[in-house]
Amino acid sequence: MPKITYIENNGKSHTIDVENSLTVMEGAVQNDIPGIDADCGGACAFATCHVYVDEKWFSKLPKAENSEIDMIDVAFEPGKYSRLSCQLTVTDELDGLVVKMPSKQG
Ligand code: FES
Repeated sequence: MPKITYIENNGKSHTIDVENSLTVMEGAVQNDIPGIDADCGGACAFATCHVYVDEKWFSKLPKAENSEIDMIDVAFEPGKYSRLSCQLTVTDELDGLVVKMPSKQG
């Protein structure tokens, strides 16, 4: 199973196994990782599953759809490497992925 590392805004790091085909958001929610609220349950609304993808991983991810890009615009402190974790599906290629949570979700 791919390992995903979630880093809270306070620096606390959690590395967990996440099943293929779950989203990065679902992996966090199912494992009680703080910092990903996912209020809309994965519907690409509210942007409370916003994460900053580690720089070296960002270009390896599938491109964001327009709906995701629009939501990132209204997320808290969007950055160059922002993605919505509910739009990232876990695959073997994402083994080792590192994401950081913004301060408002921590
Ligand atoms: S879970 Fe709501 S935008 Fe991702």
